[in-house]
Amino acid sequence: MPAASTPSLLDLHHPDWTRDPYPLYHRMRQHAPVLWDELMRSWIVLGHQEIARLSKDERLSGARIRDFHAQLPPAARGDLEPLARALSDMMLFNEPPRHTRLRRLIRPGLTPRFIREMRPLIESTVDSLLSGVADRGEMDVIRDFSEPLSRDVIARLAGVPDHAAGLLENWQGLLHEFFSQSSAQVPRVNALRAAFDEVAEQRERGQAEDVFSRIIAEQLAAEEFTEDEVFANFLLLIDAGQATTTHLIGNAVLALLRNPDQLALLREAPELTRDATHELMRYDSSVQFTSRVALADLEIAGQHIRQGQTVILVLGAGNRDPRRYPDPDRLDVRRKATDHLSFGHGIHYCLGASLALAEIEIAVRELLRRTEDLHLAEPEPSWMDSINFRFAKALPVRFRPAG
Ligand code: HEM
Repeated sequence: MPAASTPSLLDLHHPDWTRDPYPLYHRMRQHAPVLWDELMRSWIVLGHQEIARLSKDERLSGARIRDFHAQLPPAARGDLEPLARALSDMMLFNEPPRHTRLRRLIRPGLTPRFIREMRPLIESTVDSLLSGVADRGEMDVIRDFSEPLSRDVIARLAGVPDHAAGLLENWQGLLHEFFSQSSAQVPRVNALRAAFDEVAEQRERGQAEDVFSRIIAEQLAAEEFTEDEVFANFLLLIDAGQATTTHLIGNAVLALLRNPDQLALLREAPELTRDATHELMRYDSSVQFTSRVALADLEIAGQHIRQGQTVILVLGAGNRDPRRYPDPDRLDVRRKATDHLSFGHGIHYCLGASLALAEIEIAVRELLRRTEDLHLAEPEPSWMDSINFRFAKALPVRFRPAG
């Protein structure tokens, strides 16, 4: 393990911590639940209670796109302008009152009731993906199962026309691209905009039948939204809903394969899978942190945060805080971990939580039901080099189809 005398979140780039960031989080939290990271030039928050409190503090803002964009060199600023425009119209990067208004736009399509109606679609997609690999006795959980599952579900929900569905392949997240100053995704965003405009025209003529058009119809009739705002939040559904779910399923399968007693428990009592989904989310989330900017000075856990400073809420560390979860590094599918932080907390709480939970539950339950002797084909997956996302590049497994 790398030495970390002054712990920094940037140490997560070291392969040892990329593989398993949790010991580093513990080390940092023992230092203090809120600490200044000189290399990141940011406050790092690692305690469950502190993250929950700060997520509800109005003095911290998620509106951080325009400021970041404004301080880029002119060439990068120009290249990234289309991304900056779309991101700054997303609810995730706005605060009330605009946030409240934008959230209202797509909320009707993500309520638990609506998601119950989507379960048959999720079930049939899972069924056909697992049928496709059953005879092979091996698969890459990411490439063959969780990625096409979350891609198909999100394409249906967001109403991406069939001819544009290929644009969602290998989707890794726009925010990551933007903050690493890459404009590689701009052509893809422009192509999605063209597909979206096509559907928007049909919508105006009352001819669109996709799910997204259906769920926003009432709001569009009741309130004014610009086409840019509607597009940005359509893009947010795609962006926030796809790779997160893909890799959460991957991490959940990995966690179960490394904890065979817990896997056996779910095989014996599949009805436990619904509650277990929360514990799997707590144990190893695909999203490790989110960040905010301080709008005013504030104090927490004896630390003084100044106006303008960046605050990183390390959700993955809060999820392993021993003050909140006894024996936090143990996967315990019977643990009632519904207050995990993987969906965030406060007004930006994940709008897609019910959908994600349904996808994870059905994917895990059916994978276990339809396979026997499921095991890892390689001891360690290779991880994407990111300090924010825990994305396995591949997760090869072998199995026998269940008799
Ligand atoms: C917000 C995680 C799946 C849509 C968030 C936030 C987190 C998160 C941490 C809050 C970010 C912040 O406070 O800065 C996850 C994880 C998922 C997942 C781990 C998968 C397991 C989804 C899905 C959708 C979705 C499937 C859509 C279909 C959203 C939206 C927001 C959001 C729209 C913004 C909410 C707002 O700003 O008010 N998600 N998400 N997410 N998520 Fe998810």
